[in-house]
Amino acid sequence: MRPGEKKTSILSISSIKGGVGKSVTAINLAASLAVTAAPEGGRVLLVDLDPQCNATDALLPGGVEEAQSLTHSIERKRPLDEVVVGTQVDNLDLVGASRRLASLQRTYEGSRLQHLLLDPLFNSERLPDYRYVILDLHGADNCLLTSALYQSDYYLIPLKSDAFGSNALTDMLLIAEELSQLNPNLTLLGCVLTQYRITAGGSRGRASAASRYFEKAIRQLAEEANFRVFNTIIPYSDAVDSSIAKGLPLLLSAPQAPVTLAYHRLAGEVAPLLIGRRRGRRRVPRVEVVRQAEDRYINEPADSEDFEEAPAA
Ligand SMILES: Nc1ncnc2c1ncn2[C@@H]1O[C@H](COP(=O)(O)OP(=O)(O)OP(=O)(O)O)[C@@H](O)[C@H]1O
Ligand SMILES: [Mg+2]
Repeated sequence: MRPGEKKTSILSISSIKGGVGKSVTAINLAASLAVTAAPEGGRVLLVDLDPQCNATDALLPGGVEEAQSLTHSIERKRPLDEVVVGTQVDNLDLVGASRRLASLQRTYEGSRLQHLLLDPLFNSERLPDYRYVILDLHGADNCLLTSALYQSDYYLIPLKSDAFGSNALTDMLLIAEELSQLNPNLTLLGCVLTQYRITAGGSRGRASAASRYFEKAIRQLAEEANFRVFNTIIPYSDAVDSSIAKGLPLLLSAPQAPVTLAYHRLAGEVAPLLIGRRRGRRRVPRVEVVRQAEDRYINEPADSEDFEEAPAA
């Protein structure tokens, strides 16, 4: 580690669009990082900031006690040490959410200090035990999102691999841009394509036309608008829902599934970037370019021929 470098990197998995794969990515990226961070001696912490408690339920079926939840930390200003719990994955700990987080969020919404909700949690001597902290966010622009981005070094945006059809990327970039007044270090790590459809056919399968079209469009936009799209693509897989039902991350429930291996590869791309913070120049995405592209897709959806299947190779 370089002198002056902070030991803990905090990454928010964020989008204000629902169902894009934030929780699935937060859980499985955190689990994969926990496995790969082990040789460095660092641990990984996952914090669930969503009142739906998806990440909590997916790792600890039955949830956490109220007195060991993020809700308790925010309400009673309690540090990490008092609310953190272990998981079935070595090196991976969790601060779980409880359903009451929703009413707490409404209480704090709009207050002058609404960005400081996670201060008591992170103001803990135990924070440096963690090499990576992953925050799973709810798909809404509220004080929990603001508090998460205020604490974060980076944010990562999952994009569901279907056609554009909203201003979700623009909106998220604008929120982060505004937040950078409070947290000038906040940096977009990149976007990851999730739920990429592979159609049956051939031994390796073939991407569906819509997924392929979306991938091409988003990679081109990323070049024009100066942001990173990870090489790793997360495929759509039934193993995801069955892992959630079992209350286990993919690496324990389906260790060899392609989607599990994809999350390992994503961790392999993400880790060096998180470790290398403060090196090199910060990439700032061109929000206006993204907005124009998204507006274009909303007003002029892709022609059906854009989605036509190419003949099988
Ligand atoms: N790679 C995948 N393959 C198959 N299903 C997936 C995959 N990723 C996510 N899903 C499913 O899509 C749904 C939404 O995923 P997820 O809960 O991660 O999204 P989210 O962005 O966290 O949503 P929310 O905004 O509600 O928090 C879930 O039912 C999940 O099981
Ligand atoms: Mg979620």
